[in-house]
Amino acid sequence: MPSVSVTASRDALAERLFQAAIATFDLYGVYLGDRLGLYRALATEGPSTAGELAEAARINRRYAREWLEQQAASGILAVENAEAGPDDRRFVLPAGHDEVLVDESSLSFGAPFAQFAMACARPIDEIVEAFRTGQGITLEGYGDDGRLGQARFTRPMFEKLLGSEWLPALPQLHERLMADPPARVADVACGCGWSSMSIARAYPTISVDGIDVDQASIEEARRNVAGSGVEDRVRFYHRDAADADFAERFDLVTIFEALHDMSRPVDVLRTIRRMLSDGGLVLIADERTEDSFTAPASDLERLYYGFSIMSCLASGMVGPGAAGTGTVMRAETLRRYATDAGFVQVEIAPIENEFWRFYLLVE
Ligand SMILES: C[S@@+](CC[C@H](N)C(=O)[O-])C[C@H]1O[C@@H](n2cnc3c(N)ncnc32)[C@H](O)[C@@H]1O
Repeated sequence: MPSVSVTASRDALAERLFQAAIATFDLYGVYLGDRLGLYRALATEGPSTAGELAEAARINRRYAREWLEQQAASGILAVENAEAGPDDRRFVLPAGHDEVLVDESSLSFGAPFAQFAMACARPIDEIVEAFRTGQGITLEGYGDDGRLGQARFTRPMFEKLLGSEWLPALPQLHERLMADPPARVADVACGCGWSSMSIARAYPTISVDGIDVDQASIEEARRNVAGSGVEDRVRFYHRDAADADFAERFDLVTIFEALHDMSRPVDVLRTIRRMLSDGGLVLIADERTEDSFTAPASDLERLYYGFSIMSCLASGMVGPGAAGTGTVMRAETLRRYATDAGFVQVEIAPIENEFWRFYLLVE
């Protein structure tokens, strides 16, 4: 007979996994609503029946009904007349929920969490195999949901905070970006380019080169910059930053949420050192991890470990001699990489953010 405390632990974990299954289906439902444009249709059309939603979003009416019922049952949507027949119920996107589900510019935009979660599960057979063999998986293996989920998650932070709060919080950097001759910035691992464009928008004379090893991200970045108003000062290059041999020199090099994904982070930092002009600075944002391993850990650390086992560790395991950093890159690890690459100083920058810690590397 298990003891009382063992029974309690057993029941608590069983209940937790039950709740986790429900939460997982919340994410699946949000993924479908986001990808099929169902939230957007509800936001545009207002309270809708299954038939109206099906028509507005061009999906099958029976599937529309099931999704609407699932969403209302889960409290993500509301229903105006639950007692009506299935075809006559009207479903509503509640005020507040519209911002989380539809407003791509909002810091509260939450749909990318569903997109990330789906992306992480997409190459599950390769992940299982990678655990056995130690091989890595590139971003490509996670499909469009990987790169677009990332871009849609970070875009609001870049557009709302990077140019107006983060960079101005660093006076030396801010002044250089405002000064003449116009500064040159390299945005390493720029993904779909929103950070590069946001920096250029905040400082009207500078030019920004975004580089990324993922071809599809660079193509997306080029589409995003076209017609953005900064296309004359922002260029995107498909390059591996570990091998990049830029002839140009840069006053600022940035790496946003990417160093921990790199298989050769020290080589990348070495390349970056060579890319710096005299007095040039490196700004890195990466996960706001605890200083040391703790268990049980905070929700944020749990989220990071989740990404790590499903995606980021595999990204950092590509090729011979891969660093295999994982999402939970602690400040101490970054310091070691920077020192190995020849930087003499690593400062924690005075920028507060829920998800990221900022580091300034000085030659
Ligand atoms: C988590 S995403 C971050 C993208 C973007 N900075 C953002 O914050 O949305 C990591 C990015 O690092 C890029 N990356 C990884 N290793 C790289 C390398 N060696 N050179 C250039 N980019 C690299 C990936 O292709 C991916 O776009």
